[in-house]
Amino acid sequence: MHRVLVLGGYGFFGSKICAALARNRAIHLIVAGRDASKATALAYQIGVGADRARRVDADDPQLGGLLRKLGVNTLIHTAGPFQGQDYSVARAALQAGCNYFDLADGRAFVRGITSLHGAARAAGVAVVSGVSTLPALSSAVIDRQLPDFKRLDTIRIGISSGAVIPGIATVRAVLGYAGKPFRTLERGQPVEVHGWLDRIVYEFPKPVGPRLLGRCDVPDLDLLPRRYPGVQTVSFHAGFASEAGHKFVELLARNVRDGRLKSALPFAKPLTQLGRWMQPLFSDRGGMFVRMEGMHENGAPLRLAWHLVARENDGPHIPCAAAIALTNKVAAGAKLPAGATPCMGLLDVDDLLEPLKNLSIRELPAPAVHELR
Ligand SMILES: NC(=O)c1ccc[n+]([C@@H]2O[C@H](COP(=O)([O-])OP(=O)(O)OC[C@H]3O[C@@H](n4cnc5c(N)ncnc54)[C@H](OP(=O)(O)O)[C@@H]3O)[C@@H](O)[C@H]2O)c1
Repeated sequence: MHRVLVLGGYGFFGSKICAALARNRAIHLIVAGRDASKATALAYQIGVGADRARRVDADDPQLGGLLRKLGVNTLIHTAGPFQGQDYSVARAALQAGCNYFDLADGRAFVRGITSLHGAARAAGVAVVSGVSTLPALSSAVIDRQLPDFKRLDTIRIGISSGAVIPGIATVRAVLGYAGKPFRTLERGQPVEVHGWLDRIVYEFPKPVGPRLLGRCDVPDLDLLPRRYPGVQTVSFHAGFASEAGHKFVELLARNVRDGRLKSALPFAKPLTQLGRWMQPLFSDRGGMFVRMEGMHENGAPLRLAWHLVARENDGPHIPCAAAIALTNKVAAGAKLPAGATPCMGLLDVDDLLEPLKNLSIRELPAPAVHELR
């Protein structure tokens, strides 16, 4: 049995990951978090039993010893926000000699995970950061389409959520950069933009339709220009099912940018509560796009647009797919390269869609060749 401990196991994404891993008979699952009663309740709910629930604090200086005592083979860290966290949980995993996967979307955090590469190699384990939509799914989609391009110039990625409000860690993560400046690559030059501003309207395929999107500070803005040298433009935008909600976050962002508000973070809790209360009023649909532009092998301009569309409020399963797929893979005996890396090149699109196959989530593959008009 492969022993997997999910830290933040009863959280919004952690609980979905636990429910999926509980179905794998090759996995001995341990549901962990700071609240033993919540861990126990989830362990019962997903049918693994109370003895699989553990009170574990990510900040515990003895975490490495505890993981070793529990015989953990793979640790999944979902206890964000990762922005501003250090690598103490990953170091504890190294100390215990177990694999470490996290759901991080903090730009510096995911980029910097390679600082543990030597230690992870020496320990003979895989330390993988961003085992989630970004950058695992985004880079897998680009990797798959790359052979169509002689030259890839532009990558534009976007996500619009459905009505369901994620956990407080996610809300804090995304509000933390509202109105704050960060850099992105436009036509070969680093340009400064601000979180949740620069609004665009993106026409998602039916049944999602048009959505408002704003700039977000995500790991892909650093990772993709390195993975695909020669790319001139990389952008990421995100938005919500509620137009009013999006405009309110924009208002907060403008106030932060213009110095009238220090941070949008104090609004994280009330916005989460309000969003949950209003959930029935908003669309159950969400979508993701990856658009690529460049030159085809035959020299003609090439533009591809890949989409993923979710209905029936199934969208929140998408950020869980990479952690489920990668853990199932190692539990089945696959050996990941020892070392520390952002989650790119370890899972392909089929691997990532497998955990989503019984849900209302549909891939609209990029059409083979699209001439630029
Ligand atoms: N890379 C991507 O594409 C991507 C996409 C979506 C989300 N994410 C990230 O996923 C993370 C999880 O989001 P979520 O919506 O699931 O958040 P959440 O519901 O707030 O879950 C976080 C969990 O961590 C636990 N936790 C917090 N501090 C802890 C500590 N010190 N020790 C142990 N457990 C602790 C919390 O429970 P207790 O407070 O009771 O301990 C909670 O169960 C976020 O950081 C988000 O940014 C990444």
